[in-house]
Amino acid sequence: MSKSYKIGVIKGDGIGPEIIDEAIKVLDAVSVKEGFTLRYEEMLLGGAAIDETGVPLPDETIQGVKKCDAVLFGAIGGPKWDNLERHLRPETGLLGLRKEMGTFANLRPAMVYDELVNASTLKPEVIRGVDIMVVRELTGGIYFGQPRAIEGDKAYNTMVYTREEVERIAVVAFDIAMKRNKRVCSVDKANVLEVSQFWREIVEEIAKDYPEVELTHMYVDNAAMQLIRAPKQFDVILTGNIFGDILSDAASMLSGSIGLLPSASTGKGVGLYEPIHGSAPDIAGQGIANPLATISSASMMLRYALGEEKAADRIDEAIKKALADGYRTGDLGDYDAKEICSCSEIGDIIADYASK
Ligand code: IPM
Ligand code: MG
Repeated sequence: MSKSYKIGVIKGDGIGPEIIDEAIKVLDAVSVKEGFTLRYEEMLLGGAAIDETGVPLPDETIQGVKKCDAVLFGAIGGPKWDNLERHLRPETGLLGLRKEMGTFANLRPAMVYDELVNASTLKPEVIRGVDIMVVRELTGGIYFGQPRAIEGDKAYNTMVYTREEVERIAVVAFDIAMKRNKRVCSVDKANVLEVSQFWREIVEEIAKDYPEVELTHMYVDNAAMQLIRAPKQFDVILTGNIFGDILSDAASMLSGSIGLLPSASTGKGVGLYEPIHGSAPDIAGQGIANPLATISSASMMLRYALGEEKAADRIDEAIKKALADGYRTGDLGDYDAKEICSCSEIGDIIADYASK
């Protein structure tokens, strides 16, 4: 009997449903080719969940994801839900889901497709060959630290990391570096923050177990500058939750469009695979969104969660070929485009190429 996997599907809000549909189209194409079956189960999160159930993270979703082999997620949020109280906001649902799933390691590759070296706002010679893996801690730090409140004329959040939290994310980064170019740059703000000093000391300790890996440290402000100045100096960037949020958006623009880059959130159990961009409510429903980041996330899911390497390779190659052949969504339309495609047209092309 052929292998069968259960995939949780969270389409979410804004462009979420359109981009997920294209990823599923491509997944179906490669699973047929490689002889395995994917069963999908849709679950609610974010604004869609608020509209349907009144809360951004329904219990059904929390229970549902635990029974899956992996979860593919689109995007959440939008102006419709912006004025809700914090605990009811779509973003709170996503953060809660990450915490519930224990996905503490967020892997955000930032690579530049050769076919798109002209699409970046940076010079081609600066970005050609960029291949960075941002390893962002995802379930701790200031996003989750207590206490937090707005109280009269003051407001505060708390940036806190425990030894265990830093150790486990550092191990992930060093393990990944061993499979890449064996360099880890740990990014913090140790010149100002105790929590960063602590982070740095623990990363140093973990590094002793990886004598082949070269470890450097960089302050986050400098890292932001270096990413733009000379991005090729980086291999693996290891950093905390909020610095990783900011740096991964910056790194994404090296590739030319935030619509290109995938991410994998892994940890103790089931992993969550999602594009790094948001729900883009301004273009939702127009069929012009770029689904490549979500299709790439589906590829990461096949590779990391299901071990279906060949199917993942098919997707990665198909994306490169579609770009090389000049097919582009509008966000990349100014750069060596032969044809501007809609979201579903580029999905069709990639599904077709991936099946050959
Ligand atoms: C991301 C997003 C989220 C985050 C938001 C939507 C809560 O920006 O995945 O990078 O800050 O983690
Ligand atoms: Mg972000």
